[in-house]
Amino acid sequence: MLDGLILGIESSCDETAAAVVRRGTDTLSNVVASQIATHSPYGGVVPELASREHLRNIVPVVRAALGEAGVGFADLDAIAVTEGPGLAGALLVGISYAKALAFALNKPLIAVNHLEGHIHAVLLEQAQLAAQTHHESLEFPALALVVSGGHTHLYLAKRHSESWTYRNVGRTLDDAAGEAFDKVAKLLGLGYPGGPWIDALAPHGNPNAVPFSFAQIKPKVHRKNSAKTVAASTFFSFSGIKTAVLRYTQVHNMSASIQHRRQKLLEHPGIRVVDTLDLFDEQTLDLIASFQRAVVDDLRRKTFRAAENLGAASLLVSGGVAANRELRVRFIAEAVERGLPIAFPSLALSTDNAAMIAAAAWPKFVNKEFASETLTADAALALGR
Ligand code: KG4
Ligand code: ZN
Repeated sequence: MLDGLILGIESSCDETAAAVVRRGTDTLSNVVASQIATHSPYGGVVPELASREHLRNIVPVVRAALGEAGVGFADLDAIAVTEGPGLAGALLVGISYAKALAFALNKPLIAVNHLEGHIHAVLLEQAQLAAQTHHESLEFPALALVVSGGHTHLYLAKRHSESWTYRNVGRTLDDAAGEAFDKVAKLLGLGYPGGPWIDALAPHGNPNAVPFSFAQIKPKVHRKNSAKTVAASTFFSFSGIKTAVLRYTQVHNMSASIQHRRQKLLEHPGIRVVDTLDLFDEQTLDLIASFQRAVVDDLRRKTFRAAENLGAASLLVSGGVAANRELRVRFIAEAVERGLPIAFPSLALSTDNAAMIAAAAWPKFVNKEFASETLTADAALALGR
């Protein structure tokens, strides 16, 4: 009989996901029901619709995850669920279901921070690689960049045999990087979610055509902060570039072509990006390429500077934006140049999934850190100090 089987459940945003992972390293199943079609007409996640879709999907998704893993409820050792951060109503669907299941099966319940989950998406696959190659590729402390639709955070992750600690050493002051991708895509009349559209269109434009710049934000010095804390803080800001793109479209009278494109895409839902290229002129493709280059370079510069300042021994990059091809290429090139080990999750584990939740739950299972029956959603749950 298999042991150390954890069922992970994730419902923090617009994916209903369930996975069975053994001992935090062996993924037996990983099922994700995406709500892209539901939210696409609105160009963003509609919280009420997300909750309703989670309710509809949770039972079949969990059933599929158990079926693919070839295990039954009785074989599970624990149920893990995302506690936050995320949309409160969406989180509650997963939490209520997981609590009921844990109670009915008399199995422990484990609460997982979604951001810790994203970090474990990388650690899970690195552990699988290490088992195959008999070689540990990552060293600690590791600097983890979690960059998604809701988050842009830097954590210094330390390993203490079977558990992990995190220090929050960077964050965005306004929009998350993925949010900027989504908002810029929306204002340019591209499809939803915007990140994959910009990723696919950017290689067709000139990334140096439009010079965007980012403010280098100095942390406010509070007297009680030590000099070291202030030096270690990294701040991102992505709302300015969205406004700069909007201004560019206004100054260059692009609204008619944007409206035309938006209309055409509404008439062809689900169309592939490569089949839409005749809807773009050179100026728009240059704008898209320049936007992506600017965001990727800002993330890259600040992340590597933080890694150096903090003496990180390796770099982990995860979250939906970590799926971006230009980001991967430019981060890997700089990591190679600096001799810093770097790791990304596979594309399937970059965006929201439940394998990462089950993997992050394993050290908590070993340490018997179980959730109480009063567990509830924490929409603004923070990770680390
Ligand atoms: O991690 P995730 O699935 O959900 C959150 O926790 O937010 O990330 C979704 C975000 C969206 O903003 C989406 O546009 C972005 O990740 N994204 C990308 C790419 N794929 C997804 N951004 C840039 N390039 C991509 N290839
Ligand atoms: Zn996420």
